[in-house]
Amino acid sequence: MARYQTGIAGLAVHSTPAAAAQDLAQRIIDLVRVKPDAVLGLATGGTMEPVYAALIAAHRDGLSFARVTSFNLDEYLGLPGSHPASYRATMQRLLFDHIDIDPANTHLPNGMAANLAAEAEDYERRIAAAGGIDLQILGIGRNGHIGFNEPGSAAGSRTRAVNLTASTIEANTRFFAEGEAQPDRAITMGIGTIMEAREVAVLATGMSKAQALSQALTGPVGPACPASILRDHPVASWIADAEAVSLL
Ligand code: F6R
Repeated sequence: MARYQTGIAGLAVHSTPAAAAQDLAQRIIDLVRVKPDAVLGLATGGTMEPVYAALIAAHRDGLSFARVTSFNLDEYLGLPGSHPASYRATMQRLLFDHIDIDPANTHLPNGMAANLAAEAEDYERRIAAAGGIDLQILGIGRNGHIGFNEPGSAAGSRTRAVNLTASTIEANTRFFAEGEAQPDRAITMGIGTIMEAREVAVLATGMSKAQALSQALTGPVGPACPASILRDHPVASWIADAEAVSLL
């Protein structure tokens, strides 16, 4: 696997997005091999699509997810799981429908909950009851968000309903049909929730992530760039392609 060093601890750089995605997938595969009942923290977004394709390939080669539990970072508010752009439907389409994970063990926050504060508390409870997250995988927003923790989110924030910024809404328009109403709110794990995972791994690919990745890795640690806060995590890795590190 072609990889070069940048001098930044925990950062692996690959020449292509495909190789970077394969690296993250391999870390998940290795974890599930040694811990078949691993608790995975999952993410949606275009960056993760090749990662999930690699997990499906590993399953076809014999890897079982039958004892794995998963918790996704976030979900839009007001979209039922049957809506193709909901993160529930996205996860089913891209991963869950193609592996042997028990559907009862796949968790996403419910963006249709009547009482969002209660849903958020319940999500935290479910993560704790599963024993906490072993490995949380993360994409990064162009504005440095993680999950839907937009700039300004507190380091100690917990699962909650949030407003999306104009830049995030714009970046995700591609997942909705033309002219279709797009949610401007979501329910997301908080930064504090994410920081409790035993290990975190960020995947950033493409030029559109270069600015955010540079801020996250070399800017001040703080809410202006939520991903920067992951530098305070004891077991954080960063996996990127050449374009995403081009401003480092
Ligand atoms: C998705 C999520 C977001 C995305 C980020 C990058 O569950 O939590 O933080 O990881 O917006 O999205 P893509 O990969 O589409 O660029």
